[in-house]
Amino acid sequence: MPQTEILSSLEWMRAAELLKKGQLICFPTETVYGLGACIFNEIAIESIFKVKGRPADNPLIAHVSSVEQVSLIAEEIPDIFYWLAKRFFPGPLTVILKRRSSVPSIVSAGLETIAVRMPSHPVALKLIEAVGEPLVAPSANLSGKPSATNLKAVLEDFEGKIAAAIDGGNTEFGIESTVLNLRGDIPIIMRPGAIPREVLEDFLNCSISLASKEDPGEVSSPGMKYRHYSPHVSVQVVYTLPELHKYLETHSHLGKIFLLGPSGPLDLSLYTELSIDQFLLRAQDFYSHLRLADEKKYEKILILCDEHVQKDEALMNRLICAAGLMKT
Ligand code: TXA
Ligand code: MG
Repeated sequence: MPQTEILSSLEWMRAAELLKKGQLICFPTETVYGLGACIFNEIAIESIFKVKGRPADNPLIAHVSSVEQVSLIAEEIPDIFYWLAKRFFPGPLTVILKRRSSVPSIVSAGLETIAVRMPSHPVALKLIEAVGEPLVAPSANLSGKPSATNLKAVLEDFEGKIAAAIDGGNTEFGIESTVLNLRGDIPIIMRPGAIPREVLEDFLNCSISLASKEDPGEVSSPGMKYRHYSPHVSVQVVYTLPELHKYLETHSHLGKIFLLGPSGPLDLSLYTELSIDQFLLRAQDFYSHLRLADEKKYEKILILCDEHVQKDEALMNRLICAAGLMKT
């Protein structure tokens, strides 16, 4: 494939043209960048799996530009969907519904369900509108790697492998949408994300559980079993300052350390033999920091998550995954 065409955020018509010809396009959303293809083009969707190195049993999210479009791809849509859509569409909420049989089963990796979301990013919405049908789009990263939250990250993974990428700057949330399964008797969160669980609970006035690998709920999310969001540099998570100091005292042999902490810089001048660079830990630039640590060849990413971070279910989920600490 020739060079990947870089498009400005005003060139969604050009991107739509390429998508309609069966090409793959990366585009910004409010969460992370997506790697898009037309939902009814099975060959293009096959190439999404190929180009990402994505396991064939991990389904994709369909992105719509209106609530009406949902009934094109899903059926037996429950009332709860319309309540949620009224409040959270467009925005970083993905819901699992029953798939219409007219939607190629490869989209859902053979499942009878389909994940649907309406992104709030204006470029994503205009692009879907211009194509005139929903777009499937997994996060625009090689399978297993941190997601892409800017064009540079997209090109690191896909330069020369896709037709074009739209530059939308840095994404707003920096982590992916919350995936909520509406197929069972009660809604279950399949993946914590940009909309906190408490916000959904307040809105629905009920408690919502989080599917885990041990108890994936009535319908499991296949993506949960794979390693995700992992940089090449190894990641160590500590939970308290004393734990951080203990780690530094016992690892004086380490090369450059990339320290992600929740507040301002810590005084680490005691550790004269260590080279420690400090960065702020927050969802918005978590993935770009992981990628930076890889690029600059740090030896260790050390993450200090205090009580405040520990309350952030989505960020915790991503950093536990990045550290390879997910239970398997
Ligand atoms: O914010 C986001 O959701 C981003 C942007 C690009 O929209 N997309 C994204 O897609 O994160 P992806 O493919 O990286 O993650 C989709 C997640 C996976 O964990 C997958 O297993 C789950 O959604 N999923 C998709 N379809 C499903 C289905 N039918 N049933 C259960 N889980 C599903
Ligand atoms: Mg992903």
